[in-house]
Amino acid sequence: MNTSTPSRVFSGVQPTGNLHLGNYLGAIRKFVDLQHEYECLYCIVDLHAITVWQDPAALRDQTLEIAAAYLAAGIDADKAIIFHQSAVSAHAELAWIFNCVARMGWLNRMTQFKDKAGKDKERASVGLFVYPNLMAADILAYRATHVPVGEDQKQHLELARDIATKFNNDFEAEDFFPLPEPLIKGAGARVMSLRDGTAKMSKSDPSDLSRIGMMDDADMIAKKIKKAKTDPEPLPDSLDGLNDRPEAKNLVGIYAALSGVTEEAVLAEFGGQGFGAFKPALADLAVEKVAPIAEEMRRLRNDPGYLEGVLGAGAQKADAIAAPILKEVKKVVGFLG
Ligand code: AMP
Ligand code: TRP
Repeated sequence: MNTSTPSRVFSGVQPTGNLHLGNYLGAIRKFVDLQHEYECLYCIVDLHAITVWQDPAALRDQTLEIAAAYLAAGIDADKAIIFHQSAVSAHAELAWIFNCVARMGWLNRMTQFKDKAGKDKERASVGLFVYPNLMAADILAYRATHVPVGEDQKQHLELARDIATKFNNDFEAEDFFPLPEPLIKGAGARVMSLRDGTAKMSKSDPSDLSRIGMMDDADMIAKKIKKAKTDPEPLPDSLDGLNDRPEAKNLVGIYAALSGVTEEAVLAEFGGQGFGAFKPALADLAVEKVAPIAEEMRRLRNDPGYLEGVLGAGAQKADAIAAPILKEVKKVVGFLG
């Protein structure tokens, strides 16, 4: 890896609606902390969103919703660059070049494609198949070195590293692209569904009760936690006792992530108590942490002009970084200037 490359953080969230607590704990909350340490770019990946059908009016709305979520969570638009992917053409251009670097076999191994395409792969968009190449382009268009994401994106990050390595080798351009490091570890990297502790909390789950929405009000949050699936046993005293109890493990994990303490500490406090005592405590904590963000998101959503201004200014700053890098890429590949 090119050690002279300064540290730069890149991450993205798809504007596909139903932003949830998993997105917050696994990604957005980390974005907020990192902006103080690194130069950060936080993208709203609308090109990725259209790999599955998006209603155009809803897509515009959801793009502004993610911008509102970034700001409401505490990302400072003067510190970090917030923008939407389609506004910076380098993403799509570099993705095409990466379509010609990545191998079919690599993409065939991507589990997210298999999950999202479902049984009928013939009907999936071609964009969904090459989705990880676009993600690699997002990161490498800025020569980003660190990528905060939830656990589900690990395989895509590994592919981005493979693409960077192959590009550097093929074009004998040693260290041209850095190998981006995932920042995944820590509480909240994999938040599970409230209805099924073995499935991840997801925007596309048909049951709204499966996720705590970042726009949910206090009553809704409390109701969803009350209805969350559990087992009849009291909470154990130690982590081992959570093995084979996925729903209990998930709720303890959410409590730990929201309160900033370890799961052991949560069990030290609640071990021996039943869910009748634990759920109300978790609901209070979730309301305390999520409701103010939801309120600020609603306020910002009423000012679309402001949000569009933030994204427009961010896109200009992002373009200023990516354009010269793309120019170098084109030269290396052999395109005439
Ligand atoms: P997406 O909603 O797919 O655009 O994801 C945006 C970010 O949230 C990515 O960094 C994901 O890894 C993260 N994320 C999505 N679902 C979860 C989850 N259930 N737990 C933790 N992180 C998640
Ligand atoms: N694929 C990511 C997700 O669904 C979103 C994403 C797109 C992303 N481009 C990225 C994340 C670049 C990190 C870096 O969650």
